[in-house]
Amino acid sequence: MNKKVSKPKICLKGELTVPSDKSVSHRAVIFSSLAKGTSVIKNFSKGQDPLSSLEICKKLGILAEFKDNLYITSSGKLNTSKTDLYCGNSGTTMRLMAGILAGQNFNSILTGDESLSKRPMKRIITPLYLMGAKINSNNEKAPLKIVGQSLHGINYSSPIASAQVKSSILLAGLFADNKTTVTEPYLSRNHTELMLSYMDADISINGLSVTVAKSELTPKVIEIPGDISSAAYFIAAALIVPDSEIILKNVGLNPTRTGLLDVLKKMGADIEILDKQTISNELTGDLRIKYSDLTGCIIEGDIIPRLIDEIPVLAVIATQAQGQTVIKDAQDLRNKESDRIKTIVTELKKLGANIEETPDGMIINGKINLQGGVEAETYHDHRLAMSLYVAGLVCKKEILIKDFDWVNISMPEFDELFSHLLT
Ligand code: S3P
Repeated sequence: MNKKVSKPKICLKGELTVPSDKSVSHRAVIFSSLAKGTSVIKNFSKGQDPLSSLEICKKLGILAEFKDNLYITSSGKLNTSKTDLYCGNSGTTMRLMAGILAGQNFNSILTGDESLSKRPMKRIITPLYLMGAKINSNNEKAPLKIVGQSLHGINYSSPIASAQVKSSILLAGLFADNKTTVTEPYLSRNHTELMLSYMDADISINGLSVTVAKSELTPKVIEIPGDISSAAYFIAAALIVPDSEIILKNVGLNPTRTGLLDVLKKMGADIEILDKQTISNELTGDLRIKYSDLTGCIIEGDIIPRLIDEIPVLAVIATQAQGQTVIKDAQDLRNKESDRIKTIVTELKKLGANIEETPDGMIINGKINLQGGVEAETYHDHRLAMSLYVAGLVCKKEILIKDFDWVNISMPEFDELFSHLLT
């Protein structure tokens, strides 16, 4: 489906509840599958990626029932007669499941779509191999053929700050003899640590190091907060469309995910946190966002993992900020659903932005009146599609975004929610 986007007649006004967090939804369904008994997941994401995790867990023997909530019943042990497990577009599904499947007493094959089959898997194959795993890959890419083995714990210093890598190793550690410790160069999102601890795993945290021991998980009621990575598109639109003012309810505010808010504050954004609470070990809150005069800034170092998925939409915001924005240390963006440095720079340039690619990020000069009037590509990447939609709201002439349905990967509600704020 192609999507036409043009300047709104007025601005964004009103209030909405942000859809469920994708990262936390994956973990809720995967970890509940390991817990003997019935877990209740409230506010499970409708995105295709978490549904890929759910489908795989079903193939691994759990019972899943959707009523108001999602009920997962597990014997506590996985088993499968179907070795082929399709992860769709989801890197989180593949990397987390690889950690779990490496330590089972059966074999399995993890496959993915065209984009996922091009993404690097060496980052998990290397540490899992050190734990005793046997994984055959296609040149360190999917499909991953996993020969279930008994594993032993390791002490691993990860060369990259990646929650998927950290989680894959920690999940393998739940099935390994001896303790497993992972140390990261910078702190990446810590949903795995918080949820494993909530489900009574033997886990401890010491600065940038996390240690797990072989554990059985307890089934729980898990309530998923709204996704700050989805909220980012509404935040961005409200900040750059003149006269806008919106309220976003139930936004996940885990500090390992709120780098976007910190950067926007530095750029001069008028964002207020109205109410905070902790649900299922995760911090959430409501946000009020008003149109703001923004100034460019430098984004680098340990903040990068805290806003990695928001960089494409930050680039859009930076086109509407006075002066220069420089994004550095973000080379891992090239390994996402698309090479997000190249793809966002190419597409924003087409719309009229003054933006240049660098090896580990980009430089954006603002404030620019984007001309638009062109067709934009999504590169099969949901975050590109949503970022370009936001850019379209400030273009002089209408743009056409091709293959817009890629938004369904994380937020099928995207169009409906934007229409709600734009009318
Ligand atoms: C995720 C971690 C991040 C993020 C991805 C989801 C997760 O990837 O980009 O969208 O749920 O653990 P990396 O850990 O590879 O940086």
